[in-house]
Amino acid sequence: MNLKEKIKDLTIEQKVALLQGWTTWTSLELKDKEIPPMFMSDGPVGLRKQAGAGDHLGLNESVPATCFPTSATMANTWNVELGVELGRALGKEAAANDVHVVLGPGLNIKRSPLCGRNFEYFSEDPYLAGKMAAAYIKGIQENGVAACPKHFAVNSQELRRMSMDSVVDERTMREIYLTGFEIAVKEGRAKSIMSAYNMVNGTYANENTHLLSDILRGEWGFDGYVVTDWGADNNHTDGVKAGCNLVMPAPGPDCAIGLLDDFKAGKIDEATIDKRVEELLRVVYDTKEVVDKAEKSFDVEAHHSVALRCAEESIVLLDNDGILPLTDGDSVAIIGDFAKVPRYQGAGSSQVNPSKPLVSLYDSLANRLNISGYSKGFDRKNPHPVDKLIAEAVDVAKNAEKVLLCVGLDEILESEGMDRLHMELSKSQQKLIAEVCAVNKNVVLVLSGGAPFVMPDRSLYRAAIHGYLGGQAGAEAMANAILGKINPSGKLNESWPHKLEDNPSYPYFPSKERNAEYREGLYVGYRYYDTLGKPVRYPFGHGISYTDFDYSDLTVEGNDVSFTITNTGKVDGAEVAQVYVSCKNGNAYRAKKELKGFAKVFIKAGESKKVTVSLDDKAFRYYNVEKDAWEIEDADYEIIVAASVSDVRLNETVHIDGIKSNAKAPACYYSADIANVSDEDFKSILGREIPDGRWGGELTENDAFCQLYYAKSGLGRLLYKILTSMKIKPRQKVPPILT
Ligand code: GLC
Repeated sequence: MNLKEKIKDLTIEQKVALLQGWTTWTSLELKDKEIPPMFMSDGPVGLRKQAGAGDHLGLNESVPATCFPTSATMANTWNVELGVELGRALGKEAAANDVHVVLGPGLNIKRSPLCGRNFEYFSEDPYLAGKMAAAYIKGIQENGVAACPKHFAVNSQELRRMSMDSVVDERTMREIYLTGFEIAVKEGRAKSIMSAYNMVNGTYANENTHLLSDILRGEWGFDGYVVTDWGADNNHTDGVKAGCNLVMPAPGPDCAIGLLDDFKAGKIDEATIDKRVEELLRVVYDTKEVVDKAEKSFDVEAHHSVALRCAEESIVLLDNDGILPLTDGDSVAIIGDFAKVPRYQGAGSSQVNPSKPLVSLYDSLANRLNISGYSKGFDRKNPHPVDKLIAEAVDVAKNAEKVLLCVGLDEILESEGMDRLHMELSKSQQKLIAEVCAVNKNVVLVLSGGAPFVMPDRSLYRAAIHGYLGGQAGAEAMANAILGKINPSGKLNESWPHKLEDNPSYPYFPSKERNAEYREGLYVGYRYYDTLGKPVRYPFGHGISYTDFDYSDLTVEGNDVSFTITNTGKVDGAEVAQVYVSCKNGNAYRAKKELKGFAKVFIKAGESKKVTVSLDDKAFRYYNVEKDAWEIEDADYEIIVAASVSDVRLNETVHIDGIKSNAKAPACYYSADIANVSDEDFKSILGREIPDGRWGGELTENDAFCQLYYAKSGLGRLLYKILTSMKIKPRQKVPPILT
């Protein structure tokens, strides 16, 4: 179809009307112009298409769909081929339900363990996040359905997500917060992308020309359409000029009228509007053609088995003194409500209505183990210990040979729309763990949850195995791992600090009033802990197996890093080998090492495999802000092959004839001592004044209630006092300014 001719045939009113949603989930249909509607649905965990009337909150149940493991869980597989398989199944289910765009994957960087949507994001590392996202996108788009990576960009907290401003230096933004999206767009060839709610350096992401035009379309060659997050539109004309194609959900006629008025007032030209319409219609027609012809049903069992394999490969064996795997004859007590009512997905827009009835861990083990007793142990809706439940659990544990203690983050603690205030497990679970471990020395912790939490003392238990949020097949997968039917091969997508205060963003997260100040710069996750040498409970990339692997024979030839892995144990297993690059003598400040490649290989007991990981154009680069360009420094680089960021197995140093750099920065960014970055030092990498995080007193429609504190009108301040003096304890701390 010749889109330019099609667009010539449209009136300006029709063009403007096309650039906004028509219902909660669809774009505009212009029947007389043969322009069909495009149906968009969440999400990264599985299809969430509402059966009846659409409502953004998801009050109407969605159609049954395969509930896959969440993205955080899938990232623990480190298996991009499996990510493609998940995407393929998800795309098929979308097409079967006449959905043209899947609103996912989500790949924002896990700056803090507290972000409420970490379960829905892949990693603290942009390379792992980007590779997994590109895999999902390739799979989804194989069926002609469009994927929509999100939320572009620097959206790493939920607090005030619609009004906060991410204040971040260009180098950190490029290297940490955009590189995942760069990989997703360039390698995944995403046909759409969702802009984030928040501002980035003072301009809403959806109106940010630097993000949407300079970088996304200009540098990365993105030729799809940009859609707002639902309700994120601020100034539609600015959005269209910056590169946004579609405001969702249906914002009502004022939005289009406003754009038309601005067109008539000469604030935006028709060529720009035509370009946005063309970018949108290209995807409308591409997706319609394929989706219309797609099979209108999907193989529930086949997709469930994909979900099972994903869940099995994502399970991380954190600690094990040999008590696992259990054998069929073991006598075991099972304690913890999660054993009968699984935690298998997160809350919010990603929530899926599973295609099959959930099977619990208890039921999955029932006829495969001698279960000597069960106790709920805690009430997941009550953060405080229930003595009766604990006493019952202690009684069950006292008389048991071994205990599977099923604990982790409950539904109240992690959800879209809010961030956690701490990393602790609920008080009820903490007391349960202490009392059960006091009476039984053979405890295995079976963990659930989409983000790190403070672990019990290692001496209390014999093994810890983590399923994260494993989707509808998660419990079945966990049972297979506990019984050794599968050998766990998952590795952590994120660092697990001993305590929240150790996290590099702790002093600055979530935000000082309006501003989220990224003062820690590129020291996110292991880039901080590993560089500073700060101990963590579990390092990035950690995960053990029921067997052992030996690494040998490293060679580096050009971009190819080759080595041999030998399974030295008695059971078959899969190993995730990680390749890090460490610049030894460059001028630019850097993290001690950065992930630049990985491979997952299945090796039979006693056998060896040669592995080759090819380094790509991102392996040695850093962003030179003075030149506003990516550069490779002339320096020596250590190529490291490791089983986790802290478990280095092989290394070799190479020299790269790059560009001599005279880069300089405040000392704290060379030493990674970023727990207390001064205004002076932060300003130095920002390259401008630090915007005032407090509200300037001019309250606008984008401000949050808590800013009424600054209202000029007495009535506004009175309203603030009434709202904050209410008995309900506010989810968030009151603005620091008030403490
Ligand atoms: C939500 C989420 C986004 C989702 C969209 C549609 O607010 O931020 O991830 O795709 O709205 O449900």
